[in-house]
Amino acid sequence: MRDILIIGATGQVGSELTMELRKRYGNEHVVAGYIHGSEPKGELKESGPSEVVDVTDGSMIAQTVKKYHIDTIYNLAALLSVVAESKPELAWKIGIDGLWNVLEVARENKCAVFTPSSIGSFGPETPHAGTPQDTVQRPRTMYGVTKVTTELLSDYFFHKFGVDTRSVRFPGLISNVTLPGGGTTDYAVDIYYSAVRGEKFICPIRPGTLMDMMYMPDALNGAIKLMEADPSRLIHRNSFNIASMSFAPETIYEAIKKVIPDFQIEYQPDPLKQSIADSWPDYMDDSCARAEWDWKPEYDLEAMTADMIEKLRARHI
Ligand code: SER
Repeated sequence: MRDILIIGATGQVGSELTMELRKRYGNEHVVAGYIHGSEPKGELKESGPSEVVDVTDGSMIAQTVKKYHIDTIYNLAALLSVVAESKPELAWKIGIDGLWNVLEVARENKCAVFTPSSIGSFGPETPHAGTPQDTVQRPRTMYGVTKVTTELLSDYFFHKFGVDTRSVRFPGLISNVTLPGGGTTDYAVDIYYSAVRGEKFICPIRPGTLMDMMYMPDALNGAIKLMEADPSRLIHRNSFNIASMSFAPETIYEAIKKVIPDFQIEYQPDPLKQSIADSWPDYMDDSCARAEWDWKPEYDLEAMTADMIEKLRARHI
């Protein structure tokens, strides 16, 4: 049985990952770590233990790990790409100083650690079409710099100290539960909210801009499946390309229009978001994840669109 701590449990990924892990491992075995100002609410709060765990405070992480006999940490604390450009020092403090704290606690307490990387770990010189697992990673965003460093530091702790670190490079994640905050791929979430509300969508990304995207249930399955994978099969660790769909704004717009025919879009590219998007892969090659731990997504654009619209309509957003 695993005892799990999620750092960043009230964020975009954490809020759903916590519930999914509680379903699989039992409510009492999954601790939701949060910071003041983003307290868990509703089902997330009621269904299991939660603790204040600030990733920038190593002693707080250590205390919670000891108190709950934690053996696995999902470290999800991070700033997304656009907001990290306006707060680069904070992005480093949370992403890398925080990761150092997590890895040190993991080393001392023999915990496995999952810390996500991203399509943002690639940069303009990376091959954009079918981005290989092992390739050039020279991002020019602070988000990307922290993600490449995350990959290197996690591998370092594995090779040097035997800490069981594993990671995936998440595409843009689309969910109907917790909104992302300040990412380049947020438009692919916002577009559904506009469509369901009957509003015209002002798109900050130019038509023709391809980026990898993924529906949240696949992202959660991927993270959990990798952490459960047989270590003897893993040639890579930090971090695996995983992919399920790649599209440009006009393609997701057309998919939504099939369900909501009078939906309208207008393009007003945001220079920062557009330049970040242009530096990221068009689509990644995820064959290593498929071969080493049987990664396989379930949702394509049509299936995701049907589910997103149904769920958002049911909530009368
Ligand atoms: N969703 C992230 C962002 O846009 C990328 O991993 O910042």
